[in-house]
Amino acid sequence: MSSSHSTQAKLAVVILAAGQGTRMKSQLPKMLHEVAGRPLLEHVINAAKALNPEKIVVVTGHGADQIEHHFANANVVFARQHEQLGTAHAFRMAQPVLEGFDGEIVVLYGDTPLMRAQTLRGALEFHRSKQAGMTVITSELENPKGYGRILRDANGEVVRIVEHKSATEAQKLIKEWNSGMYVFSSKAFTLALSIGNDNTAKEFYLTDILERYRQAGDKALAFKIKDAAELEGANDRLQLAQADTVLRNRIREHWMIEGVTLHDPNSIYIDDTVTLEPDVIIEPGVILKGLTTIGRDSIIGAYSVISDSILANNVTVKPHTVLENVTMHQGSDAGPFARLRGGAILERDVHVGNFVEIKNSRLEQGTKAGHLAYLGDARIGAESNIGAGTITANYDGINKHHTDIGRGVFIGSNSTIIAPRVIGDGAFVAGGSTISDDVPEGAIAIARGKQRNIEGWAEKYWRKALELVKPGKMKVIRVWLEGKD
Ligand code: UD1
Ligand code: CA
Repeated sequence: MSSSHSTQAKLAVVILAAGQGTRMKSQLPKMLHEVAGRPLLEHVINAAKALNPEKIVVVTGHGADQIEHHFANANVVFARQHEQLGTAHAFRMAQPVLEGFDGEIVVLYGDTPLMRAQTLRGALEFHRSKQAGMTVITSELENPKGYGRILRDANGEVVRIVEHKSATEAQKLIKEWNSGMYVFSSKAFTLALSIGNDNTAKEFYLTDILERYRQAGDKALAFKIKDAAELEGANDRLQLAQADTVLRNRIREHWMIEGVTLHDPNSIYIDDTVTLEPDVIIEPGVILKGLTTIGRDSIIGAYSVISDSILANNVTVKPHTVLENVTMHQGSDAGPFARLRGGAILERDVHVGNFVEIKNSRLEQGTKAGHLAYLGDARIGAESNIGAGTITANYDGINKHHTDIGRGVFIGSNSTIIAPRVIGDGAFVAGGSTISDDVPEGAIAIARGKQRNIEGWAEKYWRKALELVKPGKMKVIRVWLEGKD
């Protein structure tokens, strides 16, 4: 079959993910534990997708409802394994879903987030070029404790995989171990049917398929890779942390190669879900999470935390800023110490300074909120100025209300705007006002106690009073009064 040598050959991937993962000691199914911002299983699904298979079947068991719900839109199909009777049994659960499929089948585990797509491609090419019946992906470890050992013959073909539990002392010295990842020819399901559980663990071992292939006259080969870590599962929190470290290193290297500057790279955490453009500069201690994208020439200041946000080109985020679900257009800047969240939108050239919190608000082009403000559920028109200490009082204890501020508006410092309120274009609000009525276009609103000055007050009240208090107290007024004598 010449087609079996081309990349167009039919392919399906079966991911075994029904195991319990007891060592996580968690309520959360093991496959949903995250490394570099994605669940373990998602990394494996992504590697599988890179092979362009016709179908990806995920075999679920423990935590199946949660896992299937999480990956409902991942373009994979599920097969349930109600009892965890072993890897061959798990594999067989995928058969009904692949009824009538005629092509190669790649088997993966759901808990190996470090497996690279390029390694899988390598295994597949190897399998095809050698015309093997099955290919097992292997690696070497000084002491592959717990893993199945690879027994080869003089030609290098694999004759058996022996589980650690069943291995003789001599076999235990073998360094080459079975990753549990395979490329199978299409007869795998038929061959797997005859696998029994006649072993010490009373489990159906998928490794037993190897002898079935050989009995059928097919070659069983091993594709041995250098980096054992790629094949290892994350079974407890320690291994989870180790996998996270490896993945985050890969992600940093990837973005640096793509033209992103990272200052002190190891201090920067970038989720696998983040997208960066060339000439982005990231300072130490930054954390980028979720579906965040950052455009060209943007600078992210030290110790900022950004999640699920879209930053255009030329955006500046100054140190210690926290952004969550935010859109920043070209030329806008925020921070230091700003907190933007819940759908905040900064249009072009908007400036947001220190200790400003913005929630679910749109600041239109060129608007400035330089210091100490809370803007919630508001629109602020273009080229407006929000004074220090301005607050949109958006919550009445039951409902949230909207504030609409027009373009070219000047809000004086320390004003409170009690929503719902409309402030017209070009209007002014005098500093310290509490705005409880709308302000018409072009008007100035002054809403504060009127100032009274009481002449001679200091002299009248303080000259006598100071005779009663200790010298040294109220020094300022004493000095002033003495100057008058
Ligand atoms: C298996 C291999 C062993 C190999 C090792 C690598 C067999 C018999 N042994 O060991 O040679 O070195 O993997 O890690 O295959 N799973 C199910 N349903 C089950 C059992 C397992 O879905 O009934 C899934 C688990 O979720 C996991 C994977 O299969 O993703 C491997 O299971 P695990 O029990 O860790 O592997 P072993 O059988 O110990
Ligand atoms: Ca097992």
